[in-house]
Amino acid sequence: MLSFKHDIPTKLYFGEGQIKRLAKSLEPFGKNVLLVYGGGSIKKIGLYDEVIKILKENDFNITECDGIEPNPRITSVKRGVELCKEHNIDVILAVGGGSTIDCAKAIAVGRYYAGDDLWEMVKTSFRRSKALPLVDILTLSATGSEFDAGGVISNLDTNEKLGAVYTYPSVSICDPTYTFSVSPYQTAAGSADIMSHIFEGYFSRTMDGDLSDGIAETILKSVMKNCKIALKDPTNYAARANLMADSSVACSGIPEYGKQGTGWPCHAMEHELSAYYDITHGVGLAILTIRWMRHILGKDASAMERFVKFAKNVMGLSGDDERKLAFAGIDALENYFKETGIPMTLTELGIDDKHFEAMAAHANADGYLKDAFVALTNEDIVEIYKACL
Ligand code: NZQ
Ligand code: ZN
Repeated sequence: MLSFKHDIPTKLYFGEGQIKRLAKSLEPFGKNVLLVYGGGSIKKIGLYDEVIKILKENDFNITECDGIEPNPRITSVKRGVELCKEHNIDVILAVGGGSTIDCAKAIAVGRYYAGDDLWEMVKTSFRRSKALPLVDILTLSATGSEFDAGGVISNLDTNEKLGAVYTYPSVSICDPTYTFSVSPYQTAAGSADIMSHIFEGYFSRTMDGDLSDGIAETILKSVMKNCKIALKDPTNYAARANLMADSSVACSGIPEYGKQGTGWPCHAMEHELSAYYDITHGVGLAILTIRWMRHILGKDASAMERFVKFAKNVMGLSGDDERKLAFAGIDALENYFKETGIPMTLTELGIDDKHFEAMAAHANADGYLKDAFVALTNEDIVEIYKACL
């Protein structure tokens, strides 16, 4: 088990009714609030009205920045930064899924960015010393953006989607009832994203991280169980609550305590797919994960031990033939994704092989994925993309 440091400054208020903490959470930062949200789902579920009422009753001045896209764009970041400057914003309140929270993080840092070109900030952004404070209300269990400092911003002009470290939310309000309205497609995709955050660390060369492995395996089993329940029964509180807690912990770094980094290969490959084709992150991940697993297991027999552990401890399989067992675990995972309704090929999403070489080169810039659990060359990545067709 390797040495590690962990410091999460975010306060999580978890459970039904935690919106009662909203006014007090914003209060220390000032009265001028930038309310950031997406395409309208928060209006449909009545959350927008509830938030506005609380803000007005507590004499906050509200400036709205709406229409944040899934796979949020740099143009939205620019719009938000301009609003912050124009209205002397003290604190940002993001209400929505990962896209809204990510965009709000980039706005929070962008507010103090000295340069003219915010895309340059995205390209070079590491944790900034100065950011506007951020409070969020989460409405979709997936990214873990409510409990990490990361954000992912897209630029349609350059076909780039880039992750960076921005700023932690000061407070995240996580009320599972706000996710009752999430569609089956987004529920399945969000669940696949949570699972991928676990896979990216679980498949590591550190074999003695018992605590992190145990947490990882528990989260994977919880997601598979509760996603299926939520798909059948969308207002099942326990299922939605487990998914929400899974989401926050999965991307927090906790399941990677003491483990060697892996470069998060599936995320690197998926961000290219979203950059070129604007697809749903979790769907791209599910499709890629299965092919990545089969590819690396076929390439490097030393990966077997981890896959056997996964097959036994997570998928509940048994058998004496290790190779068979390892591949059976992957098949079982694919069946699970299919059962949740995720399209399992890129062809179904209208994607062909046109950009695979360019995407592989970008995903593997500077040989980034040479440190993955099983090192990936550009050729490996192209093969994985092709297997997804
Ligand atoms: O825009 P609105 O109207 O809010 O609708 C959204 C959107 O259409 C809808 N939705 C959200 N909450 C809902 C709801 N619909 C009904 N009821 C609700 N309660 O769902 C759609 C997708 O929302 P989005 O925020 O895009 O989804 P998600 O949370 O999966 O975020 C995806 C983005 O996060 C990035 C992804 O790359 C992608 O850009 N990621 C961020 C990470 C991070 N910050 O650490 C890590 C992840 O790996 C990921 O890369
Ligand atoms: Zn993800």
